[in-house]
Amino acid sequence: MNEATEKKAQPRCQRCLLFIICCACVIFIFAVHIDRFPNTATVFYHLRNFNFSSNSTTALKKKVEERPWYLTNGTRWPNDTNLDTITGRRDAKLWPNEDKEGDRILDQLMFVPPDNGKPLPMKTIRFVPGLVIWEVNHPKGSPEPFVTCPVNRCKATTNSLDADALLFVDIFYDPRHHKPAKQVWILYRMESPIHTPVQNLIKQDIYNWTATYLRSSDIVRTYFKWTYYDEQQTEWQGPPRNFSAGKTRKVAWFVSNCNALNNRLEYARELAEHIQIDMFGGCGAQYQCPKSKKCFKLLETTYKFYLAFENSNCREYITEKFWENGLQHNVIPIVMGAPREDYELVSPKHSFIHVEDFDSPKDLAAYLHKVDQDDDLYNSYFKNITMREVIEGYFYCRLCAMLHDDYPNKYYERIDDFWQKPGSCIRGSMTWREYRKTQAKANSTKVKVP
Ligand SMILES: *[C@@H]1O[C@H](CO)[C@@H](O)[C@H](O)[C@H]1NC(C)=O
Ligand SMILES: *[C@@H]1O[C@H](CO)[C@@H](O)[C@H](O)[C@H]1NC(C)=O
Ligand SMILES: *[C@@H]1O[C@H](CO)[C@@H](O)[C@H](O)[C@H]1NC(C)=O
Ligand SMILES: *[C@@H]1O[C@H](CO)[C@@H](O)[C@H](O)[C@H]1NC(C)=O
Ligand SMILES: *[C@@H]1O[C@H](CO)[C@@H](O)[C@H](O)[C@H]1NC(C)=O
Ligand SMILES: *[C@@H]1O[C@H](CO)[C@@H](O)[C@H](O)[C@H]1NC(C)=O
Ligand SMILES: *[C@@H]1O[C@H](CO)[C@@H](O)[C@H](O)[C@H]1NC(C)=O
Ligand SMILES: *[C@@H]1O[C@H](CO)[C@@H](O)[C@H](O)[C@H]1NC(C)=O
Repeated sequence: MNEATEKKAQPRCQRCLLFIICCACVIFIFAVHIDRFPNTATVFYHLRNFNFSSNSTTALKKKVEERPWYLTNGTRWPNDTNLDTITGRRDAKLWPNEDKEGDRILDQLMFVPPDNGKPLPMKTIRFVPGLVIWEVNHPKGSPEPFVTCPVNRCKATTNSLDADALLFVDIFYDPRHHKPAKQVWILYRMESPIHTPVQNLIKQDIYNWTATYLRSSDIVRTYFKWTYYDEQQTEWQGPPRNFSAGKTRKVAWFVSNCNALNNRLEYARELAEHIQIDMFGGCGAQYQCPKSKKCFKLLETTYKFYLAFENSNCREYITEKFWENGLQHNVIPIVMGAPREDYELVSPKHSFIHVEDFDSPKDLAAYLHKVDQDDDLYNSYFKNITMREVIEGYFYCRLCAMLHDDYPNKYYERIDDFWQKPGSCIRGSMTWREYRKTQAKANSTKVKVP
């Protein structure tokens, strides 16, 4: 199409352009998610709860009625938030500046705005590029994600102009309308910045809120959220269990994206020279296992370790490879991705092995052999993973609650400073240890300002 016809055909063409963008987006999202073996066909993630052990201890027996609504069978519903007697503001910690350490997910889930005598207004949310991305498991099976939320006065809209919020899901395109001052534009990302960069062409200062897996996001969108029933009682108290019983193979790996940007394939190949690794899927794997349920059963009953290697090494980027494939299936996850402290912040104590704990794949293999042969050591990795539930974040409930919060306007002056901060990702075979060494060296050799 040349320029002249393009101009004339604009109204229709805008639609077809939109259609093409949508297609591209779906393909893009799909391509990124190809990596998610074996559920490659699900665009979003099955956020299942972990299974309960049949033998309960006191914390597990904690009355179901006392559980908050977001836990399985939980019924404790939040009340209207109180006003702080001193400041006169609602008494809640919802935004990054109100709680710099935590992810605020549970606070957001239990937030209902103070009662001001009026019914809550309806808030509208426009999804960009389109209404494709509801979670697979809507809260408690509801047809729309907001219906069963404590704050449910929200609905999806297709009109940008009057929407209260625009949610840019893993993509950006310029919606070509002036942004009303009260409209919040939200950057939503679950893939790493390596796979979803903010293109240079966009304006840097258009996003008001962020919804990503980074803890500093306004609405933290993690893959899973680990919650203990009782923070005081995290260790299994029942009779000892033997997680190595019946396991005949050592390391399993489900993989399909062979061109990850962190050399995970090369690392795994070298590791395989020193310990038995069974590869499933693509990349020249020995085994195929097309039915995901069966694969997971096989993993759980046969293997001692699982390679939970991410497709990129980025700060805080920890996906279902760790939670679902690894921890959920009673194998010890061997992780490559974020640095160790990022894993420690979100996961149970002593539940994984980080590749950077070792100088080489050979050293890692030596340790794995040791754990393999010492049942007590092997079982110690499972001590802290039972007394809990892994929740899906009910993102849409929190989004709706946040839209009803009375909070001063905000925006990111340079979204790159949030999403593509230097040091947020490393590439190739570089390790976090090496990266930090080079940083420290660069710092120390910086010319001292006279
Ligand atoms: C959960 O555990 C029970 C008892 O051990 C078992 O019967 C059931 O099949 C498990 N459910 C799932 C989904 O694994
Ligand atoms: C939830 O309730 C159902 C039905 O009462 C029950 O079978 C199930 O075990 C409960 N699950 C948990 C985790 O309490
Ligand atoms: C809400 O208020 C009721 C009645 O005062 C109370 O029983 C309940 O525990 C409160 N809910 C929460 C989540 O605090
Ligand atoms: C549950 O634990 C108790 C001891 O705490 C033990 O006597 C009992 O056999 C266990 N029951 C099952 C079903 O494992
Ligand atoms: C655990 O299971 C392994 C493999 O079946 C067995 O060799 C070992 O003796 C068991 N350990 C305990 C403490 O029961
Ligand atoms: C379990 O977690 C607690 C508290 O987080 C910690 O003190 C304890 O050492 C952990 N246990 C194991 C076996 O790692
Ligand atoms: C959203 O961001 C713009 C700047 O891009 C700002 O002018 C506006 O006040 C912000 N609105 C809200 C509701 O935060
Ligand atoms: C290097 O300097 C930067 C900025 O001064 C600082 O943020 C960073 O933590 C330093 N890195 C190391 C490894 O010392």
